[in-house]
Amino acid sequence: MMDAGRHPRIELFTNSQVENVSGFVGNFNVTVRKKVRYVDEDACTACGECEVVCPVAVPDEYQEGFSSRKAIYIPFPQAVPSSYVLDMENCLGTNPIACGKCADACEKECIDYDAVDEVRELEVGAIVVATGMQPYDPTEMDEYGYTRFANVITSMEFERLICAGGPVEGHFIRPTDRKTPKSVAFIQCVGSRSLNRGVPYCSNICCMNTVKDTLLLHDHYPEMQNKVFYMDIRSFGKGFEDLYRRSKEAGVQYIRGLPGDIEEDPKTKNLYLTVENTLNGGVERHEVDMVVLAVGLVPRTDSEQIRQMLTLSQTSDGFVMEAHPKLQPVDAPTKGVYFAGCVESPKDIKDSVTQAGAAAARANILLNDREVRIEAITSIIHEEECNYCGRCVRVCPFHAITPANKKQGVFPKVVEAACSGCGTCAAECVTDCIDMRHFEDAQYYAQIEAILAEDPMQKIVAFACNWCSYAGGDNAGTSRLQYPANVRLIRTMCSGRVDEDFILHAFRKGAPMVLVSGCHFSDCHYIDAVTWTQQRVEKIWDKLEKKGIRPERLQLEWISAAEGQKFAKVMRELEKLRQAVTEEEVAFTVDLLIREQKPTPKRRTNRDTLALLN
Ligand code: FES
Repeated sequence: MMDAGRHPRIELFTNSQVENVSGFVGNFNVTVRKKVRYVDEDACTACGECEVVCPVAVPDEYQEGFSSRKAIYIPFPQAVPSSYVLDMENCLGTNPIACGKCADACEKECIDYDAVDEVRELEVGAIVVATGMQPYDPTEMDEYGYTRFANVITSMEFERLICAGGPVEGHFIRPTDRKTPKSVAFIQCVGSRSLNRGVPYCSNICCMNTVKDTLLLHDHYPEMQNKVFYMDIRSFGKGFEDLYRRSKEAGVQYIRGLPGDIEEDPKTKNLYLTVENTLNGGVERHEVDMVVLAVGLVPRTDSEQIRQMLTLSQTSDGFVMEAHPKLQPVDAPTKGVYFAGCVESPKDIKDSVTQAGAAAARANILLNDREVRIEAITSIIHEEECNYCGRCVRVCPFHAITPANKKQGVFPKVVEAACSGCGTCAAECVTDCIDMRHFEDAQYYAQIEAILAEDPMQKIVAFACNWCSYAGGDNAGTSRLQYPANVRLIRTMCSGRVDEDFILHAFRKGAPMVLVSGCHFSDCHYIDAVTWTQQRVEKIWDKLEKKGIRPERLQLEWISAAEGQKFAKVMRELEKLRQAVTEEEVAFTVDLLIREQKPTPKRRTNRDTLALLN
């Protein structure tokens, strides 16, 4: 942080908030609100005279409330810039009985109660999102008594107590009597790996953090008895198993089982933990002086705003989703946006630093290129058929289409640098005036017709998303899993590309069964494109039912790239459904859909598209 603060080519915005992001790769416009400090950070020498005279004391957030700070303060010792900030919510300076002592004490006259926020507009080429995470609040786990017993603390609070720069200068004490405890219990997985409360995932860092803490305690207080209650100790990583072994050799007792309950002796304030030791099956009761809850990591509660501004996808865990877990692990699906640290998933310092380096390198590669290469798979609007409805603008997950204005005769425009090629706009366009390069309507119709040219009753037409379902088919194939040979896959970049008329056309050409398959909701590579797929298929089910066509003949499945087994199973089930479809119902469907077919829309070809481009 110090290095970043001193670097001549880095402008640091501390105490600031991103309010808006627009534009696209290489041309982002970012609005930043630099919140007012009321202290001129360039003039302040951090002499501390203002702090000495400030009469206000409030709990110090950095010290987890174990000590207090003044209303004018430096947030933490290593803060950059190293200058004071005025907490106006608690300051008396602007109250009717004005205090103003800090301003009087400041020789440099760098305190200004009337200062206001500064809003800056930045033009940047790339964005690295490193908004971090927050620790799980264990209040809801009442059995651990976090809110009832002062001697039950979280691992974050432990860090402040044991830190030499902390409120007790590293002399570890228990809060009730300020004496060094004789025994400390650590409870693992508080809030993690739980389906009912907290979060279902492993928070990655808690096991090794506890192992480190037990060694710290042992080094400082060799006589102290330390116990760790755990489900599994996950000590993967370089040197971690060695550290775990050292902790056990130092006499730390590892008990496999999580306490069901903590009780407190009202007189001694000692704590009693009841636990089933799953290694010997016995129910044990342990008495300790203090309990440390190894709390998990959860996504920041305020991350939604930045997620929406940057159109980032979110996993089911609430962390942001990378463009590809193996091939683009630090890239966002939005081009020119990269991730570093726990915004993407819980990780330790080493992994965060590694990822930050990778994100910086990715951004650097982008910025050093004079031109940005983008995928050719982008949407294209045939303006002559556009009716300015604006639906494409609304459905685009990347906000890559500029709004239309009928009065001024402004057609929507695709910003190709921002378009990722999901094809949702093409599928949702009511006038069919949007097409996709390389995945054009004409190509899909040609594939459907080729598949169903012979023996259509024997065929299953399956639209499969490139990233998940199609890869799931590959997985099934390479795993030598058997599935019916009459399934014909049509690849789409995203299930969002599957136009209603593709499905109807397959039925029109005599397909007994049609499948639309894509990524699981949180895995769609095009943010929320998959939600449009779902809505579209639900509408088609309704329409089919109204027409007297069994909706079961259209199936919708979410299959991930790793789910080869599921892919094969779905295909086998489809085959069973196909066998139940009668020739009469197919003939009825074909007849009805041909009769209802609107005049065939112009089937554009690559040549048409090229002509348009030229
Ligand atoms: Fe697979 Fe969107 S990328 S459904």
